[in-house]
Amino acid sequence: MRITVCRKESFNAAHRLHNKNWSDEKNKAIFGLCNNPNYHGHNYELIVKVNGEIDPDTGYVIDMKILKAIIKEEVVQRFDHKNLNLDTVEFRDLNPTAENIAIVIWKRIKAKLKEDLSLTVVLYETPKNFVEFSEACL
Ligand code: NI
Repeated sequence: MRITVCRKESFNAAHRLHNKNWSDEKNKAIFGLCNNPNYHGHNYELIVKVNGEIDPDTGYVIDMKILKAIIKEEVVQRFDHKNLNLDTVEFRDLNPTAENIAIVIWKRIKAKLKEDLSLTVVLYETPKNFVEFSEACL
């Protein structure tokens, strides 16, 4: 039997959405408040979903202690209280939209999971705006 196990985490980070190939006017028109030159913060909420077969010996899909440690190491310690544009290599040349952040997080966690586990990442940038990325999107 396959089942999905989920874990919620959160992190706070600053960002600025900006396309350096565009004029300041166009950036402001497209990205609005998220183009503020001096950055601004979001309280990101992350839901990590891991789908797989239940191990008959443990009854687990994945030990939650292990999943918790992976999320802490790959996401929270890297991005919490950081300026995504300035403090991380991932977003130096990649616009830190919720879409791009979710894909970066998915790749980092995916690399740490056993191959037979499938992964979905849901990232809330605000309580009302969220994105989802999974193998199905590839
Ligand atoms: Ni923003």
